Amino acid sequence: MTEIETNQRDSELFSPPSNVRGMTKLDRTAFKKTVTIPVLKVRKEIVNKLMRSLKRAALQRPGIKRVIEDPEDEESRLVMLDPYKIFTDGSFERAELSILKQLNVSPQIHKYNLELTYENFKSEEILRAVLPEGQDVTSGFSRVGHIAHLNLRDHQLPFKHLIGQVMIDKNPGITSAVNKINNIDNTYRNFQMEVLSGEENMITKVRENGYTYEFDFSKVYWNPRLSTEHSRITELLKSGDVLFDVFAGVGPFAIPVAKKNCTVFANDLNPESHKWLLHNCKLNKVDQKVKVFNLDGKDFLQGPVREELMQQLGPLSKERKHSVHIVMNLPAKAIEFLSVFKLLLDGPPCGIELLPIVHCYSFSKDPNPAKDVQQRAGAVLGISLEACSSVHLVRNVAPNKEMLCITFRIPAAVLYKNQTLTLENQDDPPLKRQKTDKVFSEEKTQIASVTSLEMSSPSPH
Ligand SMILES: C[S@@+](CC[C@H](N)C(=O)[O-])C[C@H]1O[C@@H](n2cnc3c(N)ncnc32)[C@H](O)[C@@H]1O
Repeated sequence: MTEIETNQRDSELFSPPSNVRGMTKLDRTAFKKTVTIPVLKVRKEIVNKLMRSLKRAALQRPGIKRVIEDPEDEESRLVMLDPYKIFTDGSFERAELSILKQLNVSPQIHKYNLELTYENFKSEEILRAVLPEGQDVTSGFSRVGHIAHLNLRDHQLPFKHLIGQVMIDKNPGITSAVNKINNIDNTYRNFQMEVLSGEENMITKVRENGYTYEFDFSKVYWNPRLSTEHSRITELLKSGDVLFDVFAGVGPFAIPVAKKNCTVFANDLNPESHKWLLHNCKLNKVDQKVKVFNLDGKDFLQGPVREELMQQLGPLSKERKHSVHIVMNLPAKAIEFLSVFKLLLDGPPCGIELLPIVHCYSFSKDPNPAKDVQQRAGAVLGISLEACSSVHLVRNVAPNKEMLCITFRIPAAVLYKNQTLTLENQDDPPLKRQKTDKVFSEEKTQIASVTSLEMSSPSPH
């Protein structure tokens, strides 16, 4: 009985050679290594049949063929086996032995010297062998088109160029690796980044929810983790609705919503975002549906948004059935911009169903993040939002830091100057006044109590 003695206990068998430890400049040739593995000798005509039943026992390594020619006999083949599963011919399972018998194959195992190269190691195995022993090697990254976006820890920095190159080598389609230099705290929310390896070109193209976005990743904000949130908001709008996107970036809310045959007003202060937003509207063939602005959010709300709302919600609004949504995705600051809604409009207030619905994003480090966001947003508007808003948890950004979205209708008492209840409003029965869009009732939001909110809010006079 042949026994591959050491393999069973050798957990380092498929680790790169120990001399790569501490390498900072990638030398792929240093990863060569020969290991002894078990093989089965089989007649070439039964290989296909046999392999279907030997999936468990067969060797699985990147770039290694599981069946090779037998150097001693051209009529037979060698089937490579996993040395952690097959040590002796007694290691086969009953079903495997039965198929071997059926195909008249001897379960006797032979030794084979397999040469491993850089190509045969996984990225994690490579980094574990190179970086200081016992240190975290997590090789995760977020992918933005052809770019791998890493967030390396201090102990990984001496190896940053090597790590970048390994990410490129081991991930098809990635041709550039960048490292985040600092936290996103600049106005335009783009990352300061260093190209670690590969292409310097940061102009990239991504697909999200079926739409294409092109942009310069070094100059604009893009976060692949927001795709679910973009589609959640898009789902809330129906054909004919109006969207004002105050911090639009390169268009991930604006473009899908425009495709639903809605009218969209999209704004971003960053001239680069504005440029790519225009480009992406054309790319996705919605340039006729989206009006694009390059303003500070406050000026956008006080200018084009106010003007459009005056029209949309004006005297003819009774015939209108569509909803108006305002998206404010600038979580670090958006709540401050809510103050702009105070007394923004003149004239008699529109019906409750037409009052704009705000989706405002925020971060919170509070133990009760939903309440925290409701209180902060309410404080800016001078009302209580706790009974008439819904809060959606978007994602966990860091330990104890959540990103949330608060959704509410702006009460007429907040939005309108010199507010007086018109006869039209008074005629509405309470139930009708409390009715909300279907989407919101499905979401079990509490926007339904807008009426009570208006009553509890202080009078603007
Ligand atoms: C967090 S990003 C969101 C982008 C996009 N809505 C998304 O979901 O990917 C915020 C955007 O707000 C823009 N921005 C920052 N300050 C602004 C301001 N005062 N007025 C308008 N846009 C601003 C940034 O340039 C950035 O594109």
